[in-house]
Amino acid sequence: MGNNFGNAYQPRPVSIIRTLPQIDEHRLFQLKLEDGSSWKDFGHQPGQFVEVSIFGKGEAPISISSPPTRLDALEICVRRAGKVTNALFEMEKGSHLYIRGPYGRGFPVETLKGHKVLLIAGGLGLAPLRSLLLYLLDKRDEFDEITLMYGTNNPNNVLFKYELLGFFDRDDIKYLYSVDRDEEGIWKQYVGVVTGLFDQAELSPHDTYAVLCGPPIMYKFVLKRLLSLGFPKDHIYMSLERMMKCGIGKCGHCAIGDKYCCTDGPVFPFTELEKIKEAI
Ligand SMILES: Cc1cc2nc3c(=O)[nH]c(=O)nc-3n(C[C@H](O)[C@H](O)[C@H](O)COP(=O)(O)OP(=O)(O)OC[C@H]3O[C@@H](n4cnc5c(N)ncnc54)[C@H](O)[C@@H]3O)c2cc1C
Ligand code: FES
Repeated sequence: MGNNFGNAYQPRPVSIIRTLPQIDEHRLFQLKLEDGSSWKDFGHQPGQFVEVSIFGKGEAPISISSPPTRLDALEICVRRAGKVTNALFEMEKGSHLYIRGPYGRGFPVETLKGHKVLLIAGGLGLAPLRSLLLYLLDKRDEFDEITLMYGTNNPNNVLFKYELLGFFDRDDIKYLYSVDRDEEGIWKQYVGVVTGLFDQAELSPHDTYAVLCGPPIMYKFVLKRLLSLGFPKDHIYMSLERMMKCGIGKCGHCAIGDKYCCTDGPVFPFTELEKIKEAI
């Protein structure tokens, strides 16, 4: 945890530069710091989160969706869920709110350097994984092959659609997209759960790191597949979501076994979780 501001526990005033509708009930918010300091000093890593607070409504942990290589704005992708997120959806350009952070352990970017990386996202799991994906692409020379597998429940629920479509023009990233169902018959790629994409990917498990972010049910099946393909256990990382309050290891709300999701995670190596029954 930590940044260059001095006190990472103190909420900092930010304002909304722009809101970009994504899919139904999901929006991307671009934020700027109100005290004139820059996001460079904020010093976040892909996979970290912030606590977003709105006066009179409360606080909610939200992943940072933008990479530390793009610092014009801090981006968060939010699904309307309850008190805080409803209030956020009522806000517009210029509205004020607070954030504290960045918190938690992010993705192991130094470990990934020089290696092949397989990113597997399900649904809103693409929000934190996008920070890593854009980071890898912005520092493309530092990494070997990059493969993205992304699954959603139907073609109308694809997050960051235009960015994903942009990969069709690049030959330095392999992408495989799936939808669980395609009732309208409009999906041109794979129809089925995200694990079905493994049959189309040419992977070399021994020199690839797999990074996962999605709903708990996805982890169960994806992990099984990765292990059966021969991915070493210490080449698998995953981001976990748990109920959180303080975000800084004080309240115990986010405990998983002897770990706190907010400070030991949210990104964990599989080797730290495999013996904790309730983790996955
Ligand atoms: C590390 C982390 C990163 C997150 N990143 C994002 C993100 O990038 N975008 C995003 O939209 N949301 C994210 N969330 C989830 C978000 O924090 C919750 O949806 C939060 O409850 C929203 O606050 P609220 O006040 O709007 O809803 P609330 O009024 O708190 O509650 C809404 C409903 O969601 C339930 N809930 C609360 N927390 C969670 C949780 N962690 N998982 C599942 N259900 C929960 C509540 O029980 C309630 O039913 C993240 C959570 C964590 C722990
Ligand atoms: S949210 Fe309080 S200890 Fe993790």
